[in-house]
Amino acid sequence: MLVRPTSRTACGTSAATSLSKIRIPMIVPLRMVIRRGDELNVVVASDVSLRPITVEDWPAVHEWASTEEACPYQPWGPNTPAQTLAFAEDAASAWRQEPQSRYVWVAEEGAVVVGLGELKIRSHRWKQSEIAYAVKVGQWGRGIGCAIATELLTHAFQSCGLHRVGATCDPRNYASAAVLARVGMVHEGRLRQTVQIQDGWRDSDVYSILVHEWSSPSPHR
Ligand SMILES: CC(C)(COP(=O)(O)OP(=O)(O)OC[C@H]1O[C@@H](n2cnc3c(N)ncnc32)[C@H](O)[C@@H]1OP(=O)(O)O)[C@@H](O)C(=O)NCCC(=O)NCCS
Repeated sequence: MLVRPTSRTACGTSAATSLSKIRIPMIVPLRMVIRRGDELNVVVASDVSLRPITVEDWPAVHEWASTEEACPYQPWGPNTPAQTLAFAEDAASAWRQEPQSRYVWVAEEGAVVVGLGELKIRSHRWKQSEIAYAVKVGQWGRGIGCAIATELLTHAFQSCGLHRVGATCDPRNYASAAVLARVGMVHEGRLRQTVQIQDGWRDSDVYSILVHEWSSPSPHR
């Protein structure tokens, strides 16, 4: 996820602007939605929020994108500083594209960047999309991954009106598989040798959730 280039959108900039800061749930499914001007803030029990990535976020992202631990199952990394900077530049510029197909947020706890979430619209016509996420090394197991994935689905279905959200993960990536299952995504099957990563060809488990299977706003099902 960290070094791929950008493409374009369906939800349009108004949805992107309205979701410029999203408060996301960690433990408690109950949440309130409060509109403040152009912002849609979903206030919940924790102090984690999503906001669109900026170029200035690259050093914070690089803290974990440069580690072996973050990317054993990924086609990227460990990143060089130039690769993380290029990722942040591409991801930030995607927010200015019209139509927009790529949405990358950073997850913040207080003022600290603790993760990333990405929604990519693969087909505007058929309302198909894909999500990906990463949590800062050292912050795993605290529910941040589930919280990010939950908000990505909310954005996909509620703001973008998409029909299907997919995700892929390495069959060895148990934590990611647990996140996908936890947010209600269905395991569809396994694609063989889809990506060449550090230790060879990687299979990809495919997950999806359809709009009628998704029920907002429960983060933990
Ligand atoms: C995958 C990742 C995002 C999970 O983030 P996280 O914040 O630790 O996830 P959560 O705390 O929300 O935990 C989600 C689930 O994973 C489980 N889990 C966490 N670490 C695990 C591990 N090492 N093995 C098995 N399950 C694990 C948790 O128990 C939880 O399951 P549960 O709700 O059924 O109890 C994080 O490990 C990460 O960033 N990995 C590197 C990047 C990556 O692989 N991204 C996914 C690309 S497909």
